[in-house]
Amino acid sequence: MSQLEEVKKEIDSLREEIRLHDYKYYVENQPVISDAQYDRLLEKLIKLEEEYPQLITPDSPSQRVAGTPSKEFEQSKHIAPLLSLANAFSEEDLQAFDKRVKKILGYSHDKGIEYVCELKLDGVAINLTYEKGTLTKGATRGDGTTGENVTANLKTIKAIPLKLRKSAKVVSFIEVRGEIFMEHEDFKKLNKEREKAGESLFANPRNATSGSMRQLDPDITAKRRLNILVYGIGAIKGIKFNNHSDILKYLKELGFRINKNTKICKNIDDVIKFCRLWGDKKKSLAYDIDGIVLKVNSIKEQEKLGEVTKSPRWAIAYKFAPAQETTKIKDIIVQVGRTGALTPVAVMEPTEVGGVTVSRATLHNEDEINRKDVRIGDTVVIQRAGDVIPEVVSVVKAKRTGKEKKFSMPHECPVCGEKVVRPKGEAIWRCANIACDAQVKERISHFTSRNAMDIEGIGEAQVAQFVENNLIDDPADLYFLKKEDLLPLERMGDKLTSNIIDSIQKSKNQDLPRLIFALGIRNVGEHIAEVLTSYYPSLDALFKAKRQDLEIINEIGPTIAQSIVQFFAQPHNREAINKLKKAGVNLELKQKPTVPKILSGKTFVFTGEMEKLTRDEAGRIVKELGGKITSSVSKKTDYVVAGASPGSKLTKAQKLGI
Ligand code: IVH
Repeated sequence: MSQLEEVKKEIDSLREEIRLHDYKYYVENQPVISDAQYDRLLEKLIKLEEEYPQLITPDSPSQRVAGTPSKEFEQSKHIAPLLSLANAFSEEDLQAFDKRVKKILGYSHDKGIEYVCELKLDGVAINLTYEKGTLTKGATRGDGTTGENVTANLKTIKAIPLKLRKSAKVVSFIEVRGEIFMEHEDFKKLNKEREKAGESLFANPRNATSGSMRQLDPDITAKRRLNILVYGIGAIKGIKFNNHSDILKYLKELGFRINKNTKICKNIDDVIKFCRLWGDKKKSLAYDIDGIVLKVNSIKEQEKLGEVTKSPRWAIAYKFAPAQETTKIKDIIVQVGRTGALTPVAVMEPTEVGGVTVSRATLHNEDEINRKDVRIGDTVVIQRAGDVIPEVVSVVKAKRTGKEKKFSMPHECPVCGEKVVRPKGEAIWRCANIACDAQVKERISHFTSRNAMDIEGIGEAQVAQFVENNLIDDPADLYFLKKEDLLPLERMGDKLTSNIIDSIQKSKNQDLPRLIFALGIRNVGEHIAEVLTSYYPSLDALFKAKRQDLEIINEIGPTIAQSIVQFFAQPHNREAINKLKKAGVNLELKQKPTVPKILSGKTFVFTGEMEKLTRDEAGRIVKELGGKITSSVSKKTDYVVAGASPGSKLTKAQKLGI
């Protein structure tokens, strides 16, 4: 054996040994060696690989941290799509689901269907691809068809095998589906560290998980204690299963963590018992679940049931009622949002609701406070459902002492002192001063936020700092910040300032939907921003859009259309857009949507008045689909679209037999 071969053998056996200990520790939760012993093995491996870099393989335990931050995540297409689940909110919904399943399968109503019940983890869905037993790709769910390639980050999670265990038949290709999540304790620790560092806090473990997975620097992800449980398979070559429970067993043999709190139920009544049980027991778990997923166990039956628009007919998610708790209101304060909306917020004695400590809850608006008769000093029921901001549900009137104080909305903005207005027919009081510090800060924070321009390193604290030091007063000002502007500020070191300036500059390249969302136009969320760009592929085009043109777009009603037009009519918004332009921010849609040219080669003539479209808009649609518009009817005309009171063009078309 040559020396190289000998080293290779040693490296191989070290890797096997480390893999086994990873499995014992992270999957089985039963380590058999000390941390120090483990570290020595890993060090030995790394040293050998440094000496013989030609022997490094991607599935080596040393490759969990890649160390090189990437610029952005690549898109990654899933081989089998990641489906989503329909929801059941009550036991009646579950019964109805069971009835439908039996009906489609042609069974009598008294036959019991076998279901596998799994806890529905409240984390982030991922798809892991293994080729010939080696992890080659890990991606987020994305839109179900295409996600983001986050392999480098996922590799840092030790419970994800880089190489599948040979205790089961290893196939040449498999997609493994599961959920990445963070346990409550790790979430709390992370937020404590962030608080100390002056960074913005994560609202809940799921946001922390998603934020950690979307780190461009895997070194950061490695420090977050992420976890995984898997629950299914996407595409696979070479094995067919009879039951879903066999799939889970197989995944376990391959070296994955599967949830031990999984149960095969004989019928829907058993399922309902399981759901009731976990509705109570979920508090005892170390992580968040938001329901139970039930899946028809037999794969044959699953295949017969099939799927409808992206969700299977053989599975459903039973959602728990949101977690509720009682606590006492110490004070009611008023927050000013980015559109100037004044929101009354209850400041409460901190209470844990569904695993997260809550000390503030929204009271929504003046009418809601009156309807629920909420007073300062009241004992109240609060609730928190998943990602939604905690809210005050009701007052426990029996606990009143008579010392409670009524609250009324202020007549001046609590931040800038200007008059506030409540337009007729609206429930919301607003500060009309667009230069109000609160609005300015909120607008800029929204602009930099993860789903908007995603400017890393700028959270609420930094925005407040910049605004208070008069460095910026609208989002576009960010692009003109220089290192020298930031260096004199507190807590701004050389490296941090460079990073911030870099990430600001990098964000110039974001795609148009993000920019439109980032502008903070009222009623324009991420989805509407996407919709808008498929009609207006540049900010200039949207800027010029007329209300009538916007309204005919599917999903855009008069309210949204008006918000958009009003936004672009405001001088300070126009000014900000000019600044964005000057700064060189990308104002165009990068990937023009590809519409199938189904009208290619066809000629259209319009006559008469149309009900829903202007002539221009209809023409644009025809052209987008590859067709041509002419003004007069001839033998070459393929279609004449006749609206109300059509002219002679219609008669001519009829004569020509068009
Ligand atoms: S099955 C067709 N099982 O819930 C299968 N999903 O909309 C679809 N989730 O984000 C998913 N725990 O990541 C399944 N035991 C479980 C799950 C689970 C959590 C998540 C999933 C997705 C959502 C389903």
